[in-house]
Amino acid sequence: MDETRARVTRDGIRIYEEADFAGMREAGRQVAEILDLCGPLVKPGATTAVIDDFIRDEVDRRGLISATIGYKGYRHASCISVNHVVCHGIPGTKILTDGDILNIDVTVIVDGWYGDSSRMYAAGALPRKAERLIEVTHEALMRGIAAVKPGETFGDIGHAIQSYVEANRMSVVRDFCGHGLGRVFHAPPNVLHYGRAGTGPVLEEGMFFTIEPMVNLGRPETKVLADDWTAVTRDKSLSAQYEHSIGVTATGCEIFTLSPAGRFFKTWD
Ligand code: MF3
Ligand code: CO
Ligand code: CO
Repeated sequence: MDETRARVTRDGIRIYEEADFAGMREAGRQVAEILDLCGPLVKPGATTAVIDDFIRDEVDRRGLISATIGYKGYRHASCISVNHVVCHGIPGTKILTDGDILNIDVTVIVDGWYGDSSRMYAAGALPRKAERLIEVTHEALMRGIAAVKPGETFGDIGHAIQSYVEANRMSVVRDFCGHGLGRVFHAPPNVLHYGRAGTGPVLEEGMFFTIEPMVNLGRPETKVLADDWTAVTRDKSLSAQYEHSIGVTATGCEIFTLSPAGRFFKTWD
């Protein structure tokens, strides 16, 4: 690839070529297969470190590179965010108990392309309130994705997500956002999960980015713990997140991180 000829918009967003979709498709498929394999590991009694060890080994076994090990000093192959943890939960000795909900977020590098995705999982029986939160969060992501089309704007994505979440009396986290990606992990633009229709950069064919809304049952405010990574809801309310990596096409978008097993939304049962 001739990096010097890559087109970048006035907002600093890189426009990828048709041929680049193949790279993202493979990276997305790899991360989706790994997330598919995590379902059976999530159960009461398991630690989050055991799940992360499995992911690290699976990334190795496939000959891939973990994008998170060594990223800004992070040392794990996944982020695992349990209950009121919003994102960037560090895998460790925490033992899962019946009714816990968790997000597993994995990013791999395949031939230089980044695949970034996360899903919700449940340990044991899923409490009704948690189930509703998870349903709304997944639907919010899919409504954001449905708003992606050349000529529309990033504000349209945020508006689609925010209006749906708030109509369901839940809140959208403002402190973290989606991001451009491709041959890099985090690139412009910041993909906000709230906003006003018709605002922000215009979507163009060839843009690659994530949409990854975090939704809280209570208030939207977060705080980062003393470990400098773990973000939690300030009011301790439950939080959920789903993340896809996508590419803008002539007519809409391609989702790179769909589950081959059909288990993106519902990872449990
Ligand atoms: N995968 C996360 C994202 O969606 C980033 C995790 S960075 C880490 O952007 F260092 F915390 F792993
Ligand atoms: Co991401
Ligand atoms: Co991610």
